Amino acid sequence: MAKPSSLLDTRVIYCGDNLEQLKKLPDACVDLIYIDPPFNSNRNYEVFWGETKEKRSFEDRHESTQAYIEFMRPRCVELARVLKKTGSFYYHCDWHASHYVKVMLDQIMGEDNFQNEIVWKRSSAHSDAKQGSKHFGRVHDVLFLYSGGSDDYTWNQLYLPLSDEYVESHYTNVEPDGRRFRWDNLTGPGGAAKGNAFYEVLGVKKFWRYSPENMAELIADGRVAIPPKGKIPAIKRYLDKSLGVPLQSVWDDLPPVNSQAKESLGYPTQKPLQLLERIIRTSSNENDIVLDAFCGCGTALVAAQNLNRQWIGIDVSPTACTVMAKRLRSVCKLPESEKLWQIGRGFVVRDLPWTEKQLRTIPPFEFENWAVIALGGIPNKTQVGDMGIDGRIFPVGSEPSAKKDEQLDFMDDWYPVQVKQMDKVGRPDIDMFEAAMMRAKRKKGFFVGFDFSSDAMLEIGRFFKREHISIVALTVREILDETIAHRLA
Ligand SMILES: C[S@@+](CC[C@H](N)C(=O)[O-])C[C@H]1O[C@@H](n2cnc3c(N)ncnc32)[C@H](O)[C@@H]1O
Repeated sequence: MAKPSSLLDTRVIYCGDNLEQLKKLPDACVDLIYIDPPFNSNRNYEVFWGETKEKRSFEDRHESTQAYIEFMRPRCVELARVLKKTGSFYYHCDWHASHYVKVMLDQIMGEDNFQNEIVWKRSSAHSDAKQGSKHFGRVHDVLFLYSGGSDDYTWNQLYLPLSDEYVESHYTNVEPDGRRFRWDNLTGPGGAAKGNAFYEVLGVKKFWRYSPENMAELIADGRVAIPPKGKIPAIKRYLDKSLGVPLQSVWDDLPPVNSQAKESLGYPTQKPLQLLERIIRTSSNENDIVLDAFCGCGTALVAAQNLNRQWIGIDVSPTACTVMAKRLRSVCKLPESEKLWQIGRGFVVRDLPWTEKQLRTIPPFEFENWAVIALGGIPNKTQVGDMGIDGRIFPVGSEPSAKKDEQLDFMDDWYPVQVKQMDKVGRPDIDMFEAAMMRAKRKKGFFVGFDFSSDAMLEIGRFFKREHISIVALTVREILDETIAHRLA
C-alpha cells in the first residue's frame, strides 16, 4: 500500500501521552479520528487487565467531571488541529460525562459541525440496574460525530437490510415473473416552488417529482402505472433493487465483545470490530488515514487495516501497545518490522520505554506486565489474590486448557513469574516467592528485578539444595539485552 503523505508516517503505534505525541503531527493531516478515552466513571475503564492499581491512579486524576474535561480539552484541541476539513471526528463516551463532552466539543469543533449523537446499545441488561435500584438500566454508549468544517466531508451512506416484517407489510405486490414490489408516490408536494413540473400523466394532471422526459422513460420501462386500488399514477419500487434502510443514529444491532468471542483479548474496554468497521466504512475511503489516539488493544487499527485504510495509533500504556502489536501481527498477518515498514509494508511501534531508566518510572502494574510479556508469559488478569505470582510462562508445547469462570484456567504445565520494580531484590522477597512456589507446587520459577542482593542469591542456591526447586533470577538489563533465551528453557 502506498504511503499517502510524505509528511506523515502511517501504520505506526506511538507509545506515550497523546498530548505530546499529537504535537508531532502536522495540521490537517488525518481523515478520520475515533477516540474512546477512559471515562470519568468508577467503572474499571482505564484498567488494562481489570485491576486496582491503575484504577487508583485513574480515580485520582479524574476526581471530578471538571477534571476529566480539563484533561480532555487540550487533547481535543490537538485532535481538531490534525483533522482535515473533509474529515470526521467520533468521540465515544457514556452518560457519566457525555453532556459535558458535547459542550466541550461544540466549543472546539464548532456547533455547526456537530452531525450526530449516535446511541450504541451495548447490552440488553446491565448490572447497574439490579433489582431494587431506582433508575432505568444504563445500556448504551454515546458517540458524538463532528465533521471537520467542510460541507464536503467524506460520507458513504450505509444501509441495513429490510426486516422481514417490513418486506411482508410493504412489498405486497408481485409481478408475473415473481419480482416483489411496492407502490410509491410520484406526485411533487410543494408544487412549482419545490421545482416540480405540472403536466399530464396517464390522464391525470398534477405536479410530478420527475421531469416529463424522465417520466416518459419510466413509463416506457413499465415502472409507472395506476395501482389497482388507486386513481393516481404511482411508481413501482422493486425489492431486489432496494439498498435497505439507511443507517439511523440508534445502533442496536452490534453486540459488545463477549468474553468468549474469538476477537476477545480479555481487555475490559475492548470495543467490537463491527462497530469500528461501520464508522470507518461510513467516514473514510480506501487509503485514507484513520487516527485513534486512545487505542487500547487496537480495535480501530485492526478495523482500518482490514478495510485497507492507513492508520496511526497512540496509547500511553506500554502494555496496550505490546498487546495491540501482537494483535496486528496475528489477526491481520501484518509483520512488525522496521525494514519492511521502510518499503511500505508492515508496521512499527515507536517510543516504547526501552531503557532501564524509563522502566523505573512506569507504574508498577505496567512494569509487571512489561516483564511478564517480555519473557513470553501471560500476566495475571487480577492482582488481588495473586498469591505472590505475577504471571505464568507456559513451556513450548503446552496448551491452555478450556476456560473456566472467565479466568484462564491453564493446564498444570507452567512456571510462575514474580516481578519487583526494585533496585535490589532481597532475601525476604525470595522467601515469599519460595512459599508461593511451594503452595503452587512448582519446580521452577522466574524472578525479575533490577538487581539481586548477595543474600537473595545465596538463598536461591540453598532453596535448590533443600527442595530441588529452582528460581531463575533475571535482571531487567538481561531482558533488555535479550541475553536470557537460554535461561528460559
Ligand atoms: C477505553 S480504552 C480504549 C479501548 C479501545 N477503544 C479498544 O477497543 O481496545 C482507553 C485507552 O486510553 C489509553 N490512555 C489513557 N490516557 C491516555 C493518554 N493520555 N494518551 C494516550 N492514551 C491514553 C489507556 O491506556 C487505554 O488503553
